[in-house]
Amino acid sequence: MKKQILISTSSFAKFDQAPLDRLKSEEVDVTLNPFGRKVTEEEFLPLAKEIHGLIAGTETLSAEVLKQLPSLKVISRCGVGMDNVDLESAKNLGIKVFNTPTGPTQAVGELTIGLMLDLLREVSLSDSEVKSGIWKKRMGSLLADKTVGIIGFGQIGQYVAKLASAFGAKVVYYDPFLSSKHDDYRSLSLEDLLSSSDLVTLHVSYSKDTHHLINEKQLSLMKSNAYLINCSRGGVVNEEALVDCLNNNSIAGAAVDVFENEPYNGPLTQFKNVILTPHIGSYAKEARIKMEIESVENLLKGFEEIVKG
Ligand code: DGY
Repeated sequence: MKKQILISTSSFAKFDQAPLDRLKSEEVDVTLNPFGRKVTEEEFLPLAKEIHGLIAGTETLSAEVLKQLPSLKVISRCGVGMDNVDLESAKNLGIKVFNTPTGPTQAVGELTIGLMLDLLREVSLSDSEVKSGIWKKRMGSLLADKTVGIIGFGQIGQYVAKLASAFGAKVVYYDPFLSSKHDDYRSLSLEDLLSSSDLVTLHVSYSKDTHHLINEKQLSLMKSNAYLINCSRGGVVNEEALVDCLNNNSIAGAAVDVFENEPYNGPLTQFKNVILTPHIGSYAKEARIKMEIESVENLLKGFEEIVKG
């Protein structure tokens, strides 16, 4: 019997057929996400009912959802974040779970630096002003010599450090889970990082430990001319606290790519000094192709492991 595979990521094999061809070279039937966007739980279940393997996006794969998929054996996330998968339930149900830890690094790193430069030079704001007939030269500032505080110093955090250093910025980081201190950059407490950085950027995974890691108290420690950048997960920042802090001008601005509820259409859209993007951290063609290939290989590896027992 052919294995039934669902690919629920909103785009797959859009720029390169190779990942899909690789999958189709095996004895499988493939269903692609028919919506071209993140699927809701109601849409997901009818699509997934009979599947043996899932190449997953960021849709919620909770205990309740997984229990309703009795033939599912392998979840292969096309992405690094695993916060949408109930890993404990997957384990109890005997479902193997994989992710693509390296694929998104460059894409998220470059977007983060792009957002920093945009904030510092007010590129997006100037663009919208020129397009609405306002010719106003805004004086920006340099990334060189700024202190960039990186919260979460895994692969993406360290890549951002490398890029920011190339611009001449001073990098400090906070990561209580790092097994040994990094030789090239200074590790600080969260409080010291927040109070000394000109740009604070988040690169932690989302879990109950990092839920609202950046709350009213942490935001109040930031300098009034500092910026917050979030390309990790929405739940890491308390959005209401961020809105209050922006209303009080207690920080200079923010760039936000991820939200507690996506698609986002909340109060952050009201601020001129806030740049918003629709969770596009890993959305660079080259990175997506790499992630898609890795996710296919992981899925097939999962099936192979099951056969071998
Ligand atoms: C990731 O890698 O987790 C991105 O958010 C895309 O899914």
